[in-house]
Amino acid sequence: SGEHDFVVVANRLPVDITVAHDGSLTWERSPGGLVTALAPIMRQNAGAWVGWSGTAGFEHEPFDGEGMRLWPVPLSEREVADYYEGFSNGTLWPLYHDVIVPPEYHRTWWNAYVSVNRRFAAAAAEAVAPGGTVWVHDYQLQLVPSVLRLLRPDVKIGFFNHIPFPPVEIFGQLPWRRQVVEGLLGADLVGFQRPGDAANFLRSVRRLTDLQVRGPQVTIPGRWSRPDRQVRAQAFPISIDAAAFDELARTPEVLARAQEIRTELGSPEVLLLGVDRLDYTKGIQHRLKAFGELLEDGQLHAPESCMVQVASPSRERVEQYRMLRDEVEGTVGRINGEFGALGRAAVHYMHHSYPMEEMAALYRAADVMLVTSLRDGMNLVAKEYIAARSDLGGALVLSEFTGAADELGQALMINPHDIDGTKATIMRAVTMEPKEGRRRMRNLRKRVIEHDVRRWADDFLGYLAMTAPHQETP
Ligand code: G6P
Repeated sequence: SGEHDFVVVANRLPVDITVAHDGSLTWERSPGGLVTALAPIMRQNAGAWVGWSGTAGFEHEPFDGEGMRLWPVPLSEREVADYYEGFSNGTLWPLYHDVIVPPEYHRTWWNAYVSVNRRFAAAAAEAVAPGGTVWVHDYQLQLVPSVLRLLRPDVKIGFFNHIPFPPVEIFGQLPWRRQVVEGLLGADLVGFQRPGDAANFLRSVRRLTDLQVRGPQVTIPGRWSRPDRQVRAQAFPISIDAAAFDELARTPEVLARAQEIRTELGSPEVLLLGVDRLDYTKGIQHRLKAFGELLEDGQLHAPESCMVQVASPSRERVEQYRMLRDEVEGTVGRINGEFGALGRAAVHYMHHSYPMEEMAALYRAADVMLVTSLRDGMNLVAKEYIAARSDLGGALVLSEFTGAADELGQALMINPHDIDGTKATIMRAVTMEPKEGRRRMRNLRKRVIEHDVRRWADDFLGYLAMTAPHQETP
């Protein structure tokens, strides 16, 4: 066994690694709330983070960085294609997001998923100290808990699913549904974004196994001399580092940049904003359709009203993502062809990602934030927008199919499939009395600032400590 009391296992390492010509490494912390939330816990507990570098063929010994041990798991080109692009993003991603596009089932992809999950579990088993804690993340690694439990029955295992968990009627399509459920049940605590996700998982356990389920608890009968084991499934809605975002969005540099953005856009009366990974779950096409129709109906006028859409590149080798890019770019081109003027686009479309500072300025500049996901585990963009609006300005239009909708009742809710309803809600946001807007934003901010990502991690780890009392190493 290893020397780390606390081990995180996630598909990706929390750093972007660059290898110099002489083979030496440099790295930068990648943006994201998870690493920010876990960094203090990592430092206090001699933590290790097991994950893939993001580059096929990259192999390296564990090394120290960002106040923790970084433990790279190598993936070959073939494994990237079959485990990551294939089973994770061509099978599980669409299956867990309401089959918005058809999931593909291939045995070669499944086999790669099994062997890569085993490799992650073996790395975690090597890293973790006797009686330590391992926290496994997300749909790419659902078999890690059960494999790890066989290798290391002495450790506490938590699992958190960052994306939705589908109803059993959809999950049941998966040819390997039982193996996946049994994989997750290797954990002591299985966390989900919404109570509905936890309920879906528990229904799948009932339907697909003969284990006893009582409330949020599943009993795994002990074998040989081992006692029964309890697995708990529960919602822990994730959040962002709200205080840090709030602080960033108040800096003079960001405020000046927000002004400048509006000037660069020709000082529009109404600025609408969308920010997403370019993913078919985000409803970008639905949002563009609603905006295009508002221009066509004459309810909004370009260029006095314009939209900025940031679509950061994602999973670009997966066919469905390429198709989506073509479709979105075609729609943007049509809207601009029809409603744009020289030097004044109706939709400003950016296919790249931006640093946090620029995102904060965009949030501060926008009058209406559009989150139109068809299905979304949480949607942290909605929370970032709220955290950035210490001026209590701006309005959030939010899809009811996001995890965030469970918490953010004061947002203006939409069903993104209902284009007329979405248009009416956008107009409501555009014309809302400032007083009402401020009241809503104050209320939203209270929730987001109180329930930040640190609280999320503390809640989860607090439950994990309780549900799995320390066991002696056999
Ligand atoms: C979602 C998933 C994460 C994933 C991220 C980016 O938020 O829940 O597990 O890391 O998307 O996707 P990528 O495939 O680039 O890691």
